[in-house]
Amino acid sequence: MDTVLLNNKEKDLEIAAEFIKKGEIVGIPTETVYGLGADASNEAAVRKVFEAKGRPADNPLIVHLADFSQAVDYTSAIPALAYKLAKRFCPGPLTMVLPKNDRIPMITSGGLDTVGIRVPSHPVMHRIIELAGRPIAAPSANTSGYPSPTSADHVMRDMNGKIAAVVDGGSSEFGVESTVISIEGESTARILRPGCVTREMLLEVCDEVIIDHAILHELEAGQKAASPGMKYKHYSPKADIIMVEGSLEGFISYVGEHNGDSVYSLIFDNDRDNFPYRYMTYGKDSSQQAHLLFQRLRELDDIGAKVVYVRAPETEGVGLAVYNRLIRAAGFEVIRI
Ligand code: TXA
Ligand code: MG
Repeated sequence: MDTVLLNNKEKDLEIAAEFIKKGEIVGIPTETVYGLGADASNEAAVRKVFEAKGRPADNPLIVHLADFSQAVDYTSAIPALAYKLAKRFCPGPLTMVLPKNDRIPMITSGGLDTVGIRVPSHPVMHRIIELAGRPIAAPSANTSGYPSPTSADHVMRDMNGKIAAVVDGGSSEFGVESTVISIEGESTARILRPGCVTREMLLEVCDEVIIDHAILHELEAGQKAASPGMKYKHYSPKADIIMVEGSLEGFISYVGEHNGDSVYSLIFDNDRDNFPYRYMTYGKDSSQQAHLLFQRLRELDDIGAKVVYVRAPETEGVGLAVYNRLIRAAGFEVIRI
């Protein structure tokens, strides 16, 4: 199949929406990362998404709507807290796991009786949902296991020949995927995947916000994941990623002891002066790190890095999302110095 590259003008968005209506798959920009969009209610279309990504069938897809008011059409119950959260954070990078109804096929929900609902703020994704007039199931548009795509070029590299089209909407604003939460009781949210709607922001609306254990810890054999995505190795470039926690001085001496051909460091902008080894930087604060992380992981592969030592980000605010992606990319290998 020839994968068509579309632009973000109305005429091209109509073409993208037509593909979705016909059961084809389109790479679509969102404010978080690029998604691989399909009609969420069309089983054959959703099957193609799993095939294109090489994704395990038990890992559910998020369903994207143009407005949270449409969630009643695809769920069997919506707690009052979900409406409060929607009022504050939708449209935006928040996904709420809610009990699904029959209009969401089991293949879309990975066999679960819940569905992740998200209302994206990106005007291109929003317009395509409106034009298609369907809920759009969209996982991140990467090959399963590889870092999520934050540009149309990344999507093309992973999906060329496997999907109908990619819409180029420029580089993704946030750069990490949405915050995924479930709701417990009257006023508690559980974060299943951290993102740019942070714990601190959720606490403006919820009395309690629980950070699921699996966000920072490897699941033990036989342990059940609250979110299936937490079971799988993720976000991993070909290079071996090793996270190093501690001072810059400690980091430099550690890399010095382990330096060699094709060894790189991924450091903060402020570490750059006099850094003695091969490096790339990934920003100066958590928001920049989120925006740049996946792009840098792909670039490190492009330049042939085999081992990458990464300065560990902080775990507050958006930093928790960055740390969570890195610890998975590193297969939970963290050096503390
Ligand atoms: O920002 C995003 O969320 C992007 C853009 C395209 O919207 N999408 C995305 O989808 O990251 P994906 O499929 O790559 O990641 C969805 C995550 C997975 O870890 C999945 O296990 C979890 O959300 N998830 C989806 N539905 C769920 C459900 N019903 N219960 C628990 N976890 C769910
Ligand atoms: Mg993904």
